[in-house]
Amino acid sequence: MAPTPTREDKFSFGLWTLGWEAQDPFGSATRPRLDTVEAIHGLAEAGAWGITFHDNDVFDFDATDAERQKAIDALKGACDDTGLVVEMVTTNLFSHPVFKDGGFTSNDRGVRRFALRKVLRNIDLAAELGATTFVMWGGREGAEYDSAKDVGAALERYREAVNLLGDYVTDKGYDIKFAIEPKPNEPRGDILLPTVGHALAFINSLERPELVGLNPETGHEQMAGLNFTAGIAQALFHGKLFHIDLNGQRGIKYDQDLVFGHGDLHNAFSLVDLLEHGGPNGGPTYDGPRHFDYKPSRTEDFDGVWESVRANMAMYLLLKERAQAFRADPEVQEALEAARVFELGQPTLNEGESYDDLLADRSAFEDFDANAYFGGKGFGFVRLQQLASEHLMGARG
Ligand code: GCO
Ligand code: MN
Ligand code: MN
Repeated sequence: MAPTPTREDKFSFGLWTLGWEAQDPFGSATRPRLDTVEAIHGLAEAGAWGITFHDNDVFDFDATDAERQKAIDALKGACDDTGLVVEMVTTNLFSHPVFKDGGFTSNDRGVRRFALRKVLRNIDLAAELGATTFVMWGGREGAEYDSAKDVGAALERYREAVNLLGDYVTDKGYDIKFAIEPKPNEPRGDILLPTVGHALAFINSLERPELVGLNPETGHEQMAGLNFTAGIAQALFHGKLFHIDLNGQRGIKYDQDLVFGHGDLHNAFSLVDLLEHGGPNGGPTYDGPRHFDYKPSRTEDFDGVWESVRANMAMYLLLKERAQAFRADPEVQEALEAARVFELGQPTLNEGESYDDLLADRSAFEDFDANAYFGGKGFGFVRLQQLASEHLMGARG
């Protein structure tokens, strides 16, 4: 039996996830539109804590001021009625034809100015609704052809945009931080800031790096063949895990947006273990929203949509239970010790030891038996992975 989610679990969903009408490049929608108010009520009943949205999930790109306000009021009313919070807001800079070459980094300067205005307006809305994270996913910021995009200039414009937004929230006194969401490709052939690592380097070049962190997505790192848990560990290491998009992906292909855990389950297990417990040697955990950015498969009707909503939360909670049992198992602790996982927590030099001391230490080099590692001194990592797998499969404790 899957555990029941509660508000304390801090599960949140993008309105565009369960609201997806399931159109894809090869076929039209297979489901009708899901009304915002209905979505919010359904999420509350299912045990979620929060919602997130793009401006144009709630009101159309062409909405008049009155239409926009009506839609916002309906959303606010549903949140008040259910107690759901708006924890994150983001801007759609990818659907409308005007953004076909991107927003912040379009070659067309007029489009860049328009994109900035759209985002500034949406930041005001985010602040009004109490959201503390503002995600920036630059799906159209990129190119198909190397000759079409001056990547250096595009990064300058990206930086110019994010610096401006940092000035804006600072001057307005908004309690908002930005989270950049990397993705390697899709919809563009190649997207700028394609991975966690690229985005971290970019953030360090900003005027207010403290205001900007990451919103990494499971499937996006895996589309690039990368280990999501390792990427999250590095984001935590740099204090940059501001938000997270949880979903499932099976290998290097298009963005599948499966339910969390319905892709690489081993990696989902290690991820939940890391988020909940930090590394085996301590280190930061993540206490932000557990945010799902997935798509209910095109095959599903509304029953299937709600099934998938519940499945995301159930998968997280089941993995959390198993990760707790894994950490608490004395055999696992012994295996971690035997695998020298804790030894990695020890500094390589002694306290106060200098390189002169190291150079003088014969046991470190002259007398060190490097050949003992041939045919001996195995690390026992396979045993550890088997124990993790047995816990994951519910075969232990
Ligand atoms: C995608 C992205 C988006 C973003 C969303 C929030 O691949 O489509 O994951 O869903 O997360 O636009 O910024
Ligand atoms: Mn995605
Ligand atoms: Mn996402």
